[in-house]
Amino acid sequence: MRPGLVLAVGPNGIGKTNLLEALHVGTQGFSPRTRNDLQLIRFGETATRVAVRGRRGTVPLEVELVVEAGAGKRAKANGAPLRATEQLRSETATLVFTPDRLGVVKGAPAARRAYFDRSIGRLSPARAQLATDYGAAVSQRNASLRRVASGHSSRDALAPWTAQVAELGTELVAARRETLQLLGPHFAERASELGLPEGELRYDGAPPSVAALDERLDRDLERGVTGLGPHLDDVVIASGTRELRGYGSQGEQRLAVLALLLAEAELIVERGGVAPLLLLDDVLSELDPDRRRILAARVARVGQALITATDAAMLPADPDQLLEVSAGVVREAA
Ligand SMILES: Nc1ncnc2c1ncn2[C@@H]1O[C@H](COP(=O)(O)OP(=O)(O)OP(=O)(O)O)[C@@H](O)[C@H]1O
Ligand SMILES: [Mg+2]
Repeated sequence: MRPGLVLAVGPNGIGKTNLLEALHVGTQGFSPRTRNDLQLIRFGETATRVAVRGRRGTVPLEVELVVEAGAGKRAKANGAPLRATEQLRSETATLVFTPDRLGVVKGAPAARRAYFDRSIGRLSPARAQLATDYGAAVSQRNASLRRVASGHSSRDALAPWTAQVAELGTELVAARRETLQLLGPHFAERASELGLPEGELRYDGAPPSVAALDERLDRDLERGVTGLGPHLDDVVIASGTRELRGYGSQGEQRLAVLALLLAEAELIVERGGVAPLLLLDDVLSELDPDRRRILAARVARVGQALITATDAAMLPADPDQLLEVSAGVVREAA
């Protein structure tokens, strides 16, 4: 794949998403589509292999990843075996759009929390574990709540978990707010360029304090779950006064997800990182020709991107490279 904008075209069901998924697996160590790695293996086979060669900035990078039924997943970067395929994530940033990602804008709050918590990890790797650690503290507190409710332990036993939920929860809220503050101006700019005026990312939630957690203890004991904290917060994605979750059109929701990806890509570069690889699957449908043109121009400026489409004419701009996907073969168009 050459730098700039690469367009991969081919009929439905030919393997375009497959190609894009392979690039994601080869650069991130996991599929954007499924958590079940066995689904990556071709029907009737017992293993699959993805090899990716390229550059990270100016440094050559070669990744080889193998998934074998019964033996799990392993990867090598520049010939050296990795302890875990997840390490690839700290080597390269890959941002992906698939139609599923519309859930970030139109789905339930959990989809947005998960999305922005991954952004935290990409933008400040030191805090990549924060959301997971907080989640674990909530689970521990919930288990403790149920033990207290059933009379198997005293209320005192809850205190350390309450303290931990408050501490990690406060850190997580701060990290999310900081990340939204960083992303916000870039998001607004990209959204406006794509025709969504006054784009805004707003955190909906507050840091949980020990006092606030204690105050609702009776209710928490009754329900057996912690009813306060960033595991219940949301991010409002808006254009002006319109919350796009409820009031955005399909196309606008798509533009908002794209503006988020572009905002993060720019931010990574601004903070001295290497421009991420953008993988945009089926992104052009639902967008009018003007917006497709603006998107293509912006994407080409951000770094390297692969866009899939059923027909080259869907992109009203010349890609830097045009790939034709046919059964089992990807060929550069003449
Ligand atoms: N594990 C597998 N082994 C073999 N074939 C598979 C496997 N998983 C999916 N397929 C098939 O691979 C084909 C290519 O799928 P893919 O999603 O890449 O097509 P596409 O070119 O993106 O099509 P569309 O334009 O409709 O999005 C599909 O017919 C799918 O059923
Ligand atoms: Mg597809």
